[in-house]
Amino acid sequence: MEKEKSSAPTVFIIFGASGDLTWRKLVPALYNLFLSEWLPEKFDIIGLSFDEMKDEAFRDHLRDGVNQFSRRGKVKDDDWRKFAECLHYSKADLGDAKIYKDLAKTLAAREKKWGAEANRIFYLALPPSMVEPVARNLGIARLNEKRQRARIVVEKPFGHDLTSARDLNRILIDIFEERQIFRIDHYLGKETVQNILAFRFGNALFEPVWNRQFIDHVQITVAEEVGIGHRGAYYDKAGALRDMIQNHLLQVLCLIAMEAPVSFDDNEIRNKKVDVLHAIRPIPPEQVQQFAVRGQYGAGKINGKIVKGYHDEEDVADNSFTETFVATKFYVDNWRWQGVPFFLRTGKRLPAKISEILIQFKPVPHQTFPASATLDLRPNRLLIAIQPEEGILLRFQVKKPGPVMHLSPVMMQFYYREAFNVAPPEAYETLLLDITKGDATLFLRRDQTEAAWSVIAPILDVWNAVKSADFPNYQAGTWGPEGADTLIAQDGISWIAPTPLQCQGDTAVCSITTEPRL
Ligand code: BG6
Repeated sequence: MEKEKSSAPTVFIIFGASGDLTWRKLVPALYNLFLSEWLPEKFDIIGLSFDEMKDEAFRDHLRDGVNQFSRRGKVKDDDWRKFAECLHYSKADLGDAKIYKDLAKTLAAREKKWGAEANRIFYLALPPSMVEPVARNLGIARLNEKRQRARIVVEKPFGHDLTSARDLNRILIDIFEERQIFRIDHYLGKETVQNILAFRFGNALFEPVWNRQFIDHVQITVAEEVGIGHRGAYYDKAGALRDMIQNHLLQVLCLIAMEAPVSFDDNEIRNKKVDVLHAIRPIPPEQVQQFAVRGQYGAGKINGKIVKGYHDEEDVADNSFTETFVATKFYVDNWRWQGVPFFLRTGKRLPAKISEILIQFKPVPHQTFPASATLDLRPNRLLIAIQPEEGILLRFQVKKPGPVMHLSPVMMQFYYREAFNVAPPEAYETLLLDITKGDATLFLRRDQTEAAWSVIAPILDVWNAVKSADFPNYQAGTWGPEGADTLIAQDGISWIAPTPLQCQGDTAVCSITTEPRL
């Protein structure tokens, strides 16, 4: 996606600036945008938080974060010095209306100094409970009023269920216009996720077979090795269905299943995506068991290291029924996808960090070759790898060299790293740049967030009402509970076993291997 720089003066106001998100993601991303000269010349970051800190301490803390988490590694002194001039910090009680008045004065003074009006980006890097009071205070201080320039950015989780998401939307819409609200799902900023659009709609080859006539089923896997770390207080109330399926995995499903947009207009793309969510077949409560499986990890081993079970994690209730693994099956009820199952799975403490999409094609309609030629026949598969390696792999059949006709599968593979020889930007770099430009294509519109909650609502309701009797039901370091295999086996298929992809060689743009892992 070609990006253009925004030249308008911009102030980023980060609420919750002493927190983890600012340290690990936001400032490393802003720093990289600064190094790549994507940020406007007149640019400032104002951090606000409950913690007491001087500007210098704030800058040192953020420098440490950039050193640890930036894709470019450690900062160079000169670059950092220039960037750090933009960083300012104020201790603030975010519930106190006065600080918003002060902020309004600070912003007015900044604009006076610059001799120009600035984009004002209010970034809420805050726990969900703080979103409403901060938004209301911004409204009271009339910081919402410059409709073209004032933007509010809200992180996930957006609400806790359909009702709370609707309430939150109503509150935000009362204060800001929809075009001012940027609801983040960081998966949409990932290069390979954006590439799904380019791959599908920038090529004539795939779209004609992208339907129920040729595709057997789709698998979307987002597996993580990590447990819940220090996020127990949040995670134990959320669980994997809310934390991952409601947003990241459903958004990926939308990109795979959507109809071709007429243009690259933000609303056009979001219309097509929300159509998919509306077309997902509602799961009747009595069938939730057939369509969704939950799991919770017990102690186990990952990479040879013993790790504790979910119940023993910090801030997790001893008798917690929160799921750390989910596998679901959805149908998209429209002409294109009728009858094609979409299987989604995600979990913590699985054997590897890997996100990928598998498009499994149907076998050929008629077998031309004799049985002896097709012993190793495998229908076409397309694998879109999101992480750790970003790429696309296609399995197809060729004749094995030799005097007799034997078919054999091979794999054509494309890796970003090899083809372009650059590290793709972090998702947050793309998203923050888009916010500075006011481009909402990669952000969730009000109806998208609500439609996504509606999709998972029946599962949430049943799981709330009927607690799982067998938790923990998978060992850390395994691919989740047995029920996940049974879920997909009902359709006569199995999950593909993901293994981290390896780049082969560093010059080939696209290579073919006779040892397909697919
Ligand atoms: C976040 C979830 O949205 O995404 C986390 O809250 C999860 O629980 C993370 O670990 C995964 O993101 P990524 O980019 O590492 O796949």
